[in-house]
Amino acid sequence: MTQDSLIHAPRAAVQSARIVVVRDGPYVVDGSIAVVDHLGVPVTAPAPVRLCRCGQSQTKPFCDESHVERGFTDKKDPRRVPDKLDTYEGQQAYVYDNRGTCAHSGFCTDRLNSVFHVGQEPFVSPSGARLDDLVNAVRRCPSGALGIGIGRARDAGLSDTNRAPQIEVSRDGPYRVTGHVELVDEFGANIPQNAGASPEHFSLCRCGSSLNKPFCSGMHWSVAFHDPVGDPMHEPTLFEWAGGYPALLDMTRIFYSRHVPGDSLIGPLFADMAPDHPERVAAWLSEVFGGPRFYSERYGGYQRMVSQHLGKQITPEQRARWATLMLQSAGDAGLPSDPEFRAAFVAYIEWGSRIAQENSGGNAKPPPNMPVPRWWWVCNATPGSRPSATAADETVEVEASLTLPNADEAVRFHDHIRPLFRPMDRNSMLFAFDLWKETDVAMHRQQILLRLRAGTMPCDGAWPDARVALFERWAADQP
Ligand code: HEM
Ligand code: SF4
Ligand code: FES
Repeated sequence: MTQDSLIHAPRAAVQSARIVVVRDGPYVVDGSIAVVDHLGVPVTAPAPVRLCRCGQSQTKPFCDESHVERGFTDKKDPRRVPDKLDTYEGQQAYVYDNRGTCAHSGFCTDRLNSVFHVGQEPFVSPSGARLDDLVNAVRRCPSGALGIGIGRARDAGLSDTNRAPQIEVSRDGPYRVTGHVELVDEFGANIPQNAGASPEHFSLCRCGSSLNKPFCSGMHWSVAFHDPVGDPMHEPTLFEWAGGYPALLDMTRIFYSRHVPGDSLIGPLFADMAPDHPERVAAWLSEVFGGPRFYSERYGGYQRMVSQHLGKQITPEQRARWATLMLQSAGDAGLPSDPEFRAAFVAYIEWGSRIAQENSGGNAKPPPNMPVPRWWWVCNATPGSRPSATAADETVEVEASLTLPNADEAVRFHDHIRPLFRPMDRNSMLFAFDLWKETDVAMHRQQILLRLRAGTMPCDGAWPDARVALFERWAADQP
């Protein structure tokens, strides 16, 4: 099975998924469990997959035996928050919470602060939201600390969705395990969980500092655990910027569960939709926004998508409502709200929904085969393409990130020159040439130098003399 087919494997095929927690060592992961990164992209490794849990590996998320050198121990810390299940009786349901299980992801307090309160007692106001919002908040709790029941018992049918086994390597945080994965020690004995904890989803420590090992206790915040920083020169895709498949799925779930059903204009259109429709639309958007080909690989690509709009007779009013509610859901799901992302996102929603409407008409004959569109930032409005009016002084940041050559060292384009040009400098010049390409800059070095010396480039302020001199040194060495 490939990692991607695992993500969508029916549960029956992967009943015995298990993680072995090695004493003072890594997690050894059953080959039937999909491992994905924080964007939902499969992470592949030869079996048996051994995941780091001491936080020190240089090959994160995989184990490189650093735990041995570090003397990592997986003992629970006596200072951990006590294992105590609290019950909150509300008007519609009982909400259960165990502070000793919480991984402090903040999902509940960020999303539903009328119910879950930061630093306030009681932590839960169980009648503070609609029942569906309560259920969704409990389902999203990655540690499994929260539970819910209509009667006076935690109802796993409400809080634990039926998902294929998966481990998400969250950014700078724990492994988020979903899908009823068995957690055992090297002798096959079950690792006990705290009272009321969900067996379907839980968070495992990967920073090495949890007080409640092997589970995450939120200590990764306190010890400032960080994954390696990516290439600062990499221009992110819209998919990456949005937060990947998990963020897009969060948005489509909110759209189809909170906004669509009660809407008299578009609700009836979706009354018989496939139960996994939110997953399908999130996979489509992931692919369109420059992520992996999730929709093509999982559901059938352009032809399948178009076939679903054919004959639906979408009216202009329905289209407009669809677009409005999707934008509202983006806000609800906390998708990035910066001008650049929203410009690109709104442009796609407008474009795509108008094509959906066009294809849905009585006489429409959409082309039978087309590639899935790939959407990009609009008009070169990319992250970092303009100085922010609110961020800290960028010049200071650029200076701090520069590597300067020694006086007797050769000036190299990749190491010393390319980092001088910010995304906004590159974008302003892309109509003529690419400031991140050595051949382009070499070809135009004399014109660039003239503008740098005159202080007319970059347009938002002249370079300091030392930087101009560095460029001059490199330019002089060019053949
Ligand atoms: C950017 C705009 C849109 C995108 C990206 C989109 C995406 C999709 C996708 C991927 C599917 C196929 C899911 C599958 O594989 O079964 C689908 C189906 C569907 N879409 Fe859209 N759509 C858009 C606009 C609209 C609009 C404006 C409407 C109506 C107001 C609409 C109504 C529907 C309906 C009714 C289905 C069939 C759902 C079912 O019965 O399972 N779509 N859409
Ligand atoms: S782990 Fe669960 S209970 Fe703890 S902050 Fe996150 S969502 Fe809330
Ligand atoms: S990853 Fe959360 S405490 Fe270690």
